Amino acid sequence: LDNGLMRTPPMGWLAWERFRCDTDCEHDPKNCISENLFIDMADRLSEDGWKELGYVYVNIDDCWSSMERDEQGRLQPDPKRFPGGIHKLTRYMHDRGLKLGIYGDMGKHTCGGYPGTPMEKIEIDAFTFADWEVDMLKYDGCWSNATEQEQGYPLMSKALNATGRPIGYSCSWPAYQGGLPPKVNYTQLGEICNLWRNYGDIQDSWDSVLNVIDWFSKNQDVLIPAAGPGQWNDPDMLIIGNFGLSMDQSRAQMALWAIMAAPLFMSTDLRTISSGARSILQNKIVISINQDPMGVQGRRILKEKNGIEVFWRPLSSNASALVIFSRRNDMPYRYQTSLSKLNYTTGSYKIYDVFTDKTMMLKDSTDFVVSVNPTGVVMWYVSAPAKRNFLQFYKGGKLQ
Ligand code: GLA
Repeated sequence: LDNGLMRTPPMGWLAWERFRCDTDCEHDPKNCISENLFIDMADRLSEDGWKELGYVYVNIDDCWSSMERDEQGRLQPDPKRFPGGIHKLTRYMHDRGLKLGIYGDMGKHTCGGYPGTPMEKIEIDAFTFADWEVDMLKYDGCWSNATEQEQGYPLMSKALNATGRPIGYSCSWPAYQGGLPPKVNYTQLGEICNLWRNYGDIQDSWDSVLNVIDWFSKNQDVLIPAAGPGQWNDPDMLIIGNFGLSMDQSRAQMALWAIMAAPLFMSTDLRTISSGARSILQNKIVISINQDPMGVQGRRILKEKNGIEVFWRPLSSNASALVIFSRRNDMPYRYQTSLSKLNYTTGSYKIYDVFTDKTMMLKDSTDFVVSVNPTGVVMWYVSAPAKRNFLQFYKGGKLQ
């Protein structure tokens, strides 16, 4: 969507995967969906080095609203859990250089059973969100059918635009239509949405992450052309920092989300996150790969029988990123290859290993071995091939 927003994939925090629909503030005050949770996360984002890296969205998901609309028919937050109201929360974010995202649903109800925003409510709700100075909307699709979605998703896009406030627009539409053409029209999605969920919900397990990676790789030829500045495929939240992933699996999620030019929405408790998980999420080079201004989504270029897969993403300045991913479950695998086998052309390349900080020079034709941990990755930032030395060109007084 060409609204000037999200020219690189959006980054921030989203409540759903980690905090779900916990509304029991009486017994679980620290973890329930309430203004305190979003304030806590905003404090962490702004005080623990996240914001400077680009993690600026603080996004509310389902279960924030009251079961009733107000007398004027507007959505309102649950008064007990959000006593200050949403506008106060957006001001809190804006005062810290952060942004606030909110959640709605195209059906009569949200997936969690809260009031939805069906067709006839789109305009009023878009204006309410703009009134609250909200910066992003995730518009879910529970309780709506294909015909309603066909009208509703474009209509919400128009309604948000008509408010005059730039609001990033995340559409769950394709996820409700199987994610593939002909049911899903990616040209249209790119025109009306800034990002879209293509596939099912991520859960806190390696199985789930693998399932998402496999679906996105299998369908990459359809998905890659849909992505670019202002319009992104969304494989769902980062679950790094929770309970389901080892450190190697966490690096794998981070690396592959960067290759896929995916939105980076963490869904974890930033108050208690381990230093290991934090350093993966705060890896500057991986983030810069994810945020590459050219905005070309990468692809799986090799799927070997031995369980090794290689992913590649072209980056600006003639650079690229490589991920060597192991699905194996035995031991670190010594994978032998060369840059020319990975489609690199003639030249000498500078390699930067993003998780070990080691650099080396590699000629395209030189065979090398990388050791890839089980369910882990090796990720490289590959600089443009070094220019040939002037003397090589200038032999015997003649340009060769
Ligand atoms: C759907 C979405 C999730 C989350 C829940 C909330 O399942 O895909 O991301 O928003 O609804 O109920």
